[in-house]
Amino acid sequence: MTTRDPATPAPRPPLVSERLILRDWQVEDAPAALGIYGHPSVARWLSPEMEQVPDLAAMRLLLRQWIAETARMPLPAGRWAIQRRDDRTVIGGAILLPLPPGNEDLEIGWQLHPDAWGHGYASETTHMLAGWAFAHDVDEVYAVVRPGNTRAAATVRRNGMHWVGESSKYFGLTLQVFRLRSADLDQAAPNALLPPRFGTN
Ligand SMILES: CC(C)(COP(=O)(O)OP(=O)(O)OC[C@H]1O[C@@H](n2cnc3c(N)ncnc32)[C@H](O)[C@@H]1OP(=O)(O)O)[C@@H](O)C(=O)NCCC(=O)NCCS
Repeated sequence: MTTRDPATPAPRPPLVSERLILRDWQVEDAPAALGIYGHPSVARWLSPEMEQVPDLAAMRLLLRQWIAETARMPLPAGRWAIQRRDDRTVIGGAILLPLPPGNEDLEIGWQLHPDAWGHGYASETTHMLAGWAFAHDVDEVYAVVRPGNTRAAATVRRNGMHWVGESSKYFGLTLQVFRLRSADLDQAAPNALLPPRFGTN
C-alpha cells in the first residue's frame, strides 16, 4: 500500500463508472445507509459480524466513525457509499479494508440494499475498487464470504476472483476466501468503465 503522512486526510476522488459513483460517506446519508445496514438480509452476511443497525441515531454514529477512519487510512483503503448516477440514490456501501490479523491483505466487499440486487452493481463496484487498488501498488485483493452466501460467492466468481480456500483466521469466523489478481481484472468485468484519472495516481 502507498505510504502517506497519517496527519493528512487521504485525497480520494469519487470513482465513476457507467452507472455508479463511489464516493465518501456523509452523515446525511444516514437514512439511506440505515435502509442497507438495518436490513436483516444484508447484516446477516457481514464479516466482521455486525449487528443490524437499529435506528437513525446509531447509523449516524457509525457513519461518523467510518468517515473518520477512512480519513486516517492509507490509500487505497477506505469505505465508500455506492450511489446510482441516474437517480442519485445511495444503493449500498463498499469497502477496501486491511484484513486482520496481519493487515497486509486488502479485503474488498459490498453491501447493497436488496432492492438493488440482480443488476450487476456489485460487479461494477468490484471493477472500480479493484482498479483503484491496483493503481496504488496493490497486486491482489481478497473477498471473504460466509459459507451459504451464494449471491456473494457468485459475484466473486463472476469477477475473476479465484478460490483460495476456507479459513478461520479472519474475524474468528469460518470464511471462504477468494483472490483477485490485477492480471485478471480486465477479463473480469469488461462492461465497467475505468474511474477518472485511473492509472495516473
Ligand atoms: C453480495 C451482493 C453484493 C451481490 O449482489 P448482486 O446484485 O447479486 O451482485 P452482482 O453485481 O454480481 O449482480 C449479479 C446479478 O445481476 C445480473 N445483472 C443484471 N445486469 C447486469 C450487468 N449489467 N452486469 C452484470 N450482471 C448483471 C446478473 O445476471 C446477476 O443476476 P442473478 O443474481 O439473477 O444471477 C448482495 O447480495 C449483497 O449486498 N448481499 C448482502 C451483503 C453481502 O453478502 N455482502 C458480501 C459479503 S462478502
